[in-house]
Amino acid sequence: MKKSVPVVLTIIFILLLILLLRPRWYLNLTRQVDVSPAVGAALVEKHDCRSCHVIGGEGAYIGPNLTEAAKRESEATLYGWLANPRKMRASTAMPNFHLSDSEIHAIIAYLKSIQ
Ligand code: HEC
Repeated sequence: MKKSVPVVLTIIFILLLILLLRPRWYLNLTRQVDVSPAVGAALVEKHDCRSCHVIGGEGAYIGPNLTEAAKRESEATLYGWLANPRKMRASTAMPNFHLSDSEIHAIIAYLKSIQ
């Protein structure tokens, strides 16, 4: 009984670490969505992207206007910003939303759909 205590504590520690760091595989496992413009639009609402970006004529100018972002930027660049903004620019004001791959691709599908 006593010998299992360190094992249990280690497992709890690892689980806490995963919840804290939210690695990509964990996000992909727990937040799988349909890759569609409608789902992307809902995610843009949920995370309030328009509090910083103009998208389709509405929003704030803290970040770049995203209405034509899918035309201006490559898919890899858009993915990079949505997956980890700090990796794209260390001093950026854009927060990391811990989006899964399917959530990112749904948002990109939405941005493409409004071109
Ligand atoms: C707190 C403000 C803020 C929020 C909220 C925010 N962003 Fe940003 N975002 C920025 C800023 C500022 C930049 C410009 C990057 C830089 O140079 O620092 C940026 C850059 C981007 C870019 C790259 C644009 C380009 O032309 O290269 C994309 C794409 C983007 N954001 C998408 C989103 C999406 C989608 C959301 C919602 C899930 C979002 N952002 C929420 C501030 C924000």
